[in-house]
Amino acid sequence: MKYTVITGASSGIGYEASIAFASRGKNLVLIARRKQELEKLKSEITKINSNLDVVIIPTDLSITKDVYELYEGLRDYKIETWINNAGFGNFATIGKQNLEKIETMIHLNIEALTILSSLYVRDYSNVEGSQLINVSSAGGYRIIEDSVTYCATKFYVSAFTEGLAQELKGLGAKMKAKVLAPASTETEFAKHAFGLDEFSLAGVVPKYHTAKEMAGFMLELYDSEKVVGIVNGMTYEFELKDPVYPYAAIKRS
Ligand SMILES: NC(=O)c1ccc[n+]([C@@H]2O[C@H](COP(=O)([O-])OP(=O)(O)OC[C@H]3O[C@@H](n4cnc5c(N)ncnc54)[C@H](OP(=O)(O)O)[C@@H]3O)[C@@H](O)[C@H]2O)c1
Repeated sequence: MKYTVITGASSGIGYEASIAFASRGKNLVLIARRKQELEKLKSEITKINSNLDVVIIPTDLSITKDVYELYEGLRDYKIETWINNAGFGNFATIGKQNLEKIETMIHLNIEALTILSSLYVRDYSNVEGSQLINVSSAGGYRIIEDSVTYCATKFYVSAFTEGLAQELKGLGAKMKAKVLAPASTETEFAKHAFGLDEFSLAGVVPKYHTAKEMAGFMLELYDSEKVVGIVNGMTYEFELKDPVYPYAAIKRS
């Protein structure tokens, strides 16, 4: 049996992506901290297709040792696709940002994603059909005011994943690595970034997508041969592209 692993599955884009991959008949390993939300998602997926195996693993991915333990615990599963979607943002000027929150954000957005991507590549780069999707942001290609540190974490995600895609291609590996770069999407994201109890994008930004729409875009990226799937910040169209960042290949002896 093959599995699709999705981090940050308890809400927003990860929740809808889980339903989208389940609708494609994929067995799932779902990760986030909130066990209750993961259980709710599991029962929703069981209603769609009771033949699927859905494994939920409540884990805090901002804790380095738990990230390694999570991966070790999945050694017996055949992982067809790994989606690093868990992440959060912070809206504040750099001088006023809460450094405890920033430390956690860097642990989650950068460190956990790097560890999990590297271990997955180590084990699966030569497995036909294997695919890694890392969720960046339109803010991983353009710096947004009052969101500089978050954007910097997403520039990292984009550069790391595009570079990995180029490296895998250069090595003739079978695995594909891809970057999904959403723009404003109605999820719990803004609520956490602002540190509020409730928040809606309606009336605040001129355009945004639903999490379900973003999950649809993720499937388009999954099905395509392109490396980057990005929401155009002007038109809000979803565009599939070749790597955006310049890449310098070296001659291997
Ligand atoms: N929404 C947007 O406008 C937008 C735009 C561009 C990019 N993105 C990116 O899209 C991705 C998904 O975000 P979203 O918009 O769907 O927001 P969301 O609804 O807040 O979902 C974030 C997910 O990450 C999980 N998560 C947070 N901290 C975690 C931790 N320490 N360990 C494990 N899981 C953790 C959350 O689950 P628990 O709380 O249960 O742990 C939740 O499932 C993120 O990488 C975000 O940066 C979002």
